[in-house]
Formats: sequence, C-alpha cells, structure tokens
Amino acid sequence: MNIRKRFILTIFSICVTMLSFSQNIETPEQKSERMQWFKDARLGIFIHWGIYAVNGIDESWSFFNEYTPYDEYMKQLQGFTAKNYKPDNWADLIKESGARYAVLTTKHHDGVALWDTKYGDLNVVEKTPAGRDLVGPFCKALRKNKIKVGLYYSLLDWSHPDYPNFTRTNKRYKEDSLRWASFTKFNLGQIEEFSNKYNPDLVWFDGDWEQSAEKWKASEIREILFDANDEVIINSRLQGYGDYATPEQGLPLTKPKEKYWELCMTINDSWGYQNNDNDYKSTDQIIKIFAECLLMGGNLLLDIGPKPDGSIPEKQVKVLKELGRWTGKHQKAIYGTHAGLPPGYFYGPSTLSNDSTILYLFLPYKPHGQVMLKGIKNKINRVWVVGNGTKLEHKVYLKPYWSNKPGLIFIDVPDLVLDKNMTVIAVLLDKKLELGE
Ligand code: GLC
Repeated sequence: MNIRKRFILTIFSICVTMLSFSQNIETPEQKSERMQWFKDARLGIFIHWGIYAVNGIDESWSFFNEYTPYDEYMKQLQGFTAKNYKPDNWADLIKESGARYAVLTTKHHDGVALWDTKYGDLNVVEKTPAGRDLVGPFCKALRKNKIKVGLYYSLLDWSHPDYPNFTRTNKRYKEDSLRWASFTKFNLGQIEEFSNKYNPDLVWFDGDWEQSAEKWKASEIREILFDANDEVIINSRLQGYGDYATPEQGLPLTKPKEKYWELCMTINDSWGYQNNDNDYKSTDQIIKIFAECLLMGGNLLLDIGPKPDGSIPEKQVKVLKELGRWTGKHQKAIYGTHAGLPPGYFYGPSTLSNDSTILYLFLPYKPHGQVMLKGIKNKINRVWVVGNGTKLEHKVYLKPYWSNKPGLIFIDVPDLVLDKNMTVIAVLLDKKLELGE
C-alpha cells in the first residue's frame, strides 16, 4: 500500500471512530466485547414468577384471551404470598444447574410489578401479601454467586388504564395521543427505575409486537438502559433495537444467521407454575436440545415457574440438578466454546474450543463401539472422554499416501465410558481445525 493510500485510510478510520463516539455508535469489536460473557455463558434459567401461579393458569394470556374474567384473574393477587421465597436457594440451584445467567419476570403483560415501583400501585408490595420488593433480593443473591442478572419486562401492559389493548375483543381506545403519551411516560419511567435500581446485566423485553419501534420509543429505551449501564445486553424484542435473537419454543434446524441467539423453552408446557401441567421434558431431552443449541453457537434459556410462595416445584429442582451433573462434568465442551462442525462431518452435535484446536463430539446415541468422523484434514494428537479422561484409540482409514483427501477417522468408544445422559469426546488436533471435502 502506498503512503497516500495508507494516509487516507488512517484519516478514514479516525473519522469513523470519532463519529461512533459522538453518536454513541458501537464498532463491531466493541459489540463483541460487550457480548462476550453472553456468548460464553451458553445456559441461562428463565423464571416466570407472578400471580398467575396462584390458580396455576396461563400468565396474562388467560384474561387477554378471555378464558377467565379480568377480575377473577386479579383475585390471584390475594394468594401471592412469597412466604417461602429464598433467593439464595434459587441462586444455589441456578448455579448447580450450570447456568451462568438467569432472567426473572419483573412484570408480565398483566402489569403486576414484582418490585416497589413508584409508578402506579399495581405491584406485589402494595397489592399482595408478599408485601415487599422481590427483585432486589434476587439480583443480590445472583451476584453473590457470580451469576449474571437478567430482568424480563413486558413493554405492553394490559392492565394500564392508558394502554390501548385490554383483552382480545375489548380495546380501550384506538388512537388517542394524550393517553398514549401518558402510558409512554409511565413505561419509560418504570424502565428507568428498574434499570437504575437493579443495574441488570441483561434486559429481556417482551410484547413488542403490539406497537412499532417509534411508538414504544425503542431508541430512547435503549439509551435509558445504556445510560445506566453501558455494558447492558438487550434481547431482540425491542422492534429492531436489541442485541440478539430469541427464537421461542422452536429449535432452529440450521445455524441462525444472527451471531448471537438464545432459544427460550419451557421445562414442561407452561411458562409459569401450573399444578396441572405434568408434561415435563426429561433431563435427557433437555440435554439433547441444549447440545443442538451449542452446536449452532447459541444459548439455551430454560424456563422454570416457582409457586406463589416462592418455592420451586420438586420436579423442576430435580431436572435442574440432573442437568447440573451433566454440565458440570462436561464444562470444557460447553462454556466458552463456539459452533461445531457443519452438517456432513459427524452424526451428532459438536463444539470447538475457543482456539479451534479441540473438537468436542457429543454422542446422542449409543455408538455401538465406534464413531466416525469425516473430512478432517488435521492430524489428531489425542482423543479422550470429557469429564473422565479415559484415552480413546483412533484409526484413520481411506487415506492412501497418494491422496490429499482427508481420511475417515474411527474412534473407539467402549460402553464402559458412556455417560448416563450424553457422552462427550474431546479430539485434540495438531492445529486449528481444517476441513476438507
Ligand atoms: C411469549 C408470551 C409470554 C412469555 C414469553 C416468553 O411472548 O407472551 O407469555 O412470557 O413468550 O418468551
């Protein structure tokens, strides 16, 4: 490059940096730095806790869809006691599960705030026997355990007298700029309030589909959050102003195009606690789904629903503990890894160590003696079972000396080393992974 070109380039990059400073625009490098903990975390626990747990009915939707009258729904306020709420125990369990962050519903679409908001009186402090702020102690307990704090907040509020929608068939108004302005003031007020009070690492918005970015004042909301914490991470449900994608209850088939994403999924069929819902996913099933997220470079946000007294149902505790045994044993193959092999190279999920020199193979089926790996150009230095260390034999076939095609690698996996949920094998390569055809 000649001196003139280099000079122009330097001036250009200085201008870009200055512009991004003045406009608060982030460079891609700054964004990846901000997103780093989230990218490495891989597993989060979603917690839907609210008055809907009292009758064990669908959160907010049960009155919006008119399965139950609004007044009946709101009677649940009286049964929300939080009397066995022990945030330290929650944090211990979350930690034990292997999750590195957790997201709590501070306010669902029903508008009931879980903290002592000064905006309106629809909150658990003033309206329920719980009578105290439930968000603060949650944040404190997580931070003690070095778990990142995520707060869920519903932008739409079907209880607010100035919010246009009330139920599916009953709207308060269509266009009324004064009432909308009053609602926006309230909404932005609450957002600023919880953001300053709890300084969340992550804000998980929901319900953005009912209004446009402009109406929500999405860019102002983003600014409010960044003013309080310039490292905050925001999910995608802010009409284009978020940081990562949030597929819901649907595992992507192929690697999403977004660099950062998180699948949110219920542990049974409900977000909140429903006594009647016993359709729990097994630990095996959750691990299979989780491994797929890992393969495609995403996170899993697994949802649980505590009871109205704040205790976590036994079945949910059991699954989280079992999950914790597996994540604990296989942590090297999980945290800080990135997306694994593209389809065609190995039958099963895989991940790669941060420096791409260790390939982790997840075995969702019994291998019946051996697994086969295709298209790897590298020399293999060592193979072992993750979490137990047993060294495994491997052999390369179909690699005559005159061919530059990668051979087929067969790795012995004796039954003796199999994990009761899913075995993971580490393959140490001579250098960064190189794929052939
Ligand atoms: C949906 C629902 C809501 C639930 C959320 C979790 O958008 O409105 O009830 O809390 O998904 O992802």
